[in-house]
Amino acid sequence: MRQLRRYAGAALVTVLLLTGCPARDDGYRAGAADAGDPYVPGSGNGGYNVGDYRLRVRYDPATDRLTGQATVTATTTAKLSRFNLDLAGLTVDSVRVDGADARHRQDGAELVITPAHRLDSGRRFTVDVAYGGVPAPVTDGQLGSGGLLATADGAVALGQPVSASTWFPVNDHPSDKATYDIEVTVPDGLAALSNGVPKGRTSTGGWTTWRWVEATPMASYLTTLVIGDYRVETSTHAGKPMVTAVAAALPADGPAAASLARTGAVVDFLASRFGPYPFDSYGGIAIADDRIRYALETQSRPVYGPGFFRSGANGNVIAHELAHQWFGDSVSVARWSDIWLNEGFATYAEWLWEEHDGGRTAQRNAELQYAVTDWSRPSVDPGRSGLFGDAVYKRGALAVHALRRTVGDDTFFRILRGWVAERRGGNATTDDFVAYAEGVADRPLKPLLDAWLIGTGAPTPL
Ligand code: TRP
Ligand code: ZN
Repeated sequence: MRQLRRYAGAALVTVLLLTGCPARDDGYRAGAADAGDPYVPGSGNGGYNVGDYRLRVRYDPATDRLTGQATVTATTTAKLSRFNLDLAGLTVDSVRVDGADARHRQDGAELVITPAHRLDSGRRFTVDVAYGGVPAPVTDGQLGSGGLLATADGAVALGQPVSASTWFPVNDHPSDKATYDIEVTVPDGLAALSNGVPKGRTSTGGWTTWRWVEATPMASYLTTLVIGDYRVETSTHAGKPMVTAVAAALPADGPAAASLARTGAVVDFLASRFGPYPFDSYGGIAIADDRIRYALETQSRPVYGPGFFRSGANGNVIAHELAHQWFGDSVSVARWSDIWLNEGFATYAEWLWEEHDGGRTAQRNAELQYAVTDWSRPSVDPGRSGLFGDAVYKRGALAVHALRRTVGDDTFFRILRGWVAERRGGNATTDDFVAYAEGVADRPLKPLLDAWLIGTGAPTPL
């Protein structure tokens, strides 16, 4: 013990010698270079929270060049000497912090910004970034690619868990949600679609600027930019704007268009189960590029790859992406290891929709799934390579059904509605959900949910 203390004393002297007198340590630090989420090393940053992104981007399909001007309004959570934003593959021309020129350097996908004046904790600040280049998707061996992809007629920015940093400087982690005001300028005749409420368009000199405002906090991976030749339809649904767009390369009377036309009916069904729709606009975008083999729950306006509609209309994928508007978009993960909170519920919503639409019952889908589930793979913390695996989607949905069968329909839907109401616009973890469900049901549910989510043997069938 004495030995140890002497050792610690010596270490302290060494630290003082190395760093100088503690009185001169004023506590200003560099913000962390990532969010500390082991599933996405390098993504996100520390030391601040973003409140709003104001993005002005111009994209020229003839050259694939994007030029951008981003204004990021944020609040520090620590005393900062410098901080980072994520930006992949584009070049920064200038950075200003609170209107004053700031030093900046780019290190891979990190934009490191040193403001002229250090920032106190709890302080609001704005960062203006002028940037540009030819965007390229980021490719990850385990997770596929994400980001801005040039297409035959324009571009599509889409991806999970990473996409946003390929077209604007961002704190690229779902734990830091923000509002967005997005203006996209494209050659006249092309559509430029994004998230939220359409705020009109203006044309000058052969270019058209489309403006979109998402006023409800949005995780960065839920942003999208879709540029190209689209049939855009704007209407009103339940008092809010609805914008659907189908690639002109897909038939106007084909299965993609027919499926997207069901958006209003599906959203109303889901609202009858989960409670009020959480955003102020609706919609969906069907793209034609075969390289996009996914659909994604981009906030207020999911994007659907062409594969989903190849063998006819598909209500399930519409139900899945729209269910994410409650589970994933309004209530977002705080870390990617909890992604079953998104995918388990969205998959369960497919089962609810199928039953409502005259297909298999949810009970039947659960029985079929139970029979093929690999219980050695957990829904919670599935590992990076398991982020989009069956343990997350299918076993996650089974766990939701197990909860329903255990507490009964009335309590189950009170849990779901209460959960999305209480956590609306925020973030949550698996433990938060289990505690919430236990509170509503007024009984322990952790042993049950543990068995269905992470147990390594088959639970007693339902
Ligand atoms: N989250 C999407 C869904 O469940 C699927 C998805 C996983 C995805 N990775 C992606 C979509 C990358 C687009 C890009 O609907
Ligand atoms: Zn999903």
